[in-house]
Amino acid sequence: MLIALSQPILKRLAAHPRYRQATTVLLYHSLPDEVYTHDFVAQAVAEGKTVLLPVVVSDTEMEIRRYTGPDDLSISSFGILEPSGEPFTDFAQIEFALVPGMSFDSHRNRLGRGKGYYDRFLPNIPQAYKLGICFDFQKLDEIPADKYDKKVDEVL
Ligand SMILES: Nc1ncnc2c1ncn2[C@@H]1O[C@H](COP(=O)(O)OP(=O)(O)OP(=O)(O)O)[C@@H](O)[C@H]1O
Ligand SMILES: [Mg+2]
Repeated sequence: MLIALSQPILKRLAAHPRYRQATTVLLYHSLPDEVYTHDFVAQAVAEGKTVLLPVVVSDTEMEIRRYTGPDDLSISSFGILEPSGEPFTDFAQIEFALVPGMSFDSHRNRLGRGKGYYDRFLPNIPQAYKLGICFDFQKLDEIPADKYDKKVDEVL
């Protein structure tokens, strides 16, 4: 059901100029209540993009690792498929970042999962175009934001 609802959103993502132009992209594997991104991640690798995924390393921090294909994945304590390789630290190379959210509002604020992982990480990649995707029913008029909350550049 949600996988079917995801298809038109993924089509627009694949066609987005900022995504198409980017060779180094930060993506994520979706959780069950999010727009389904697993096949999209595989497609990005197949297209030859340098695909990076987040890996939760502590209660507050996440790191980024290069993802080269399904052989390279293991399931984390968070229940997310994560690559097992070395951390990727050349943040300046990241041109595009897909940012997960439980909800987004019309001011491009995002509601994450309440740990602040992306709020802490996003300042590392000021140059990257940050795009949020969500279902229409996840869009809210107003999400309360504090000083740590990072906006995305666009919500599809
Ligand atoms: N850069 C930061 N430095 C210190 N604390 C921070 C920072 N960013 C966020 N926090 C704190 O982390 C906690 C969780 O943040 P928040 O509720 O915004 O998470 P979230 O954006 O929903 O989660 P996530 O980014 O993991 O999806 C809050 O108490 C917030 O103030
Ligand atoms: Mg936040």
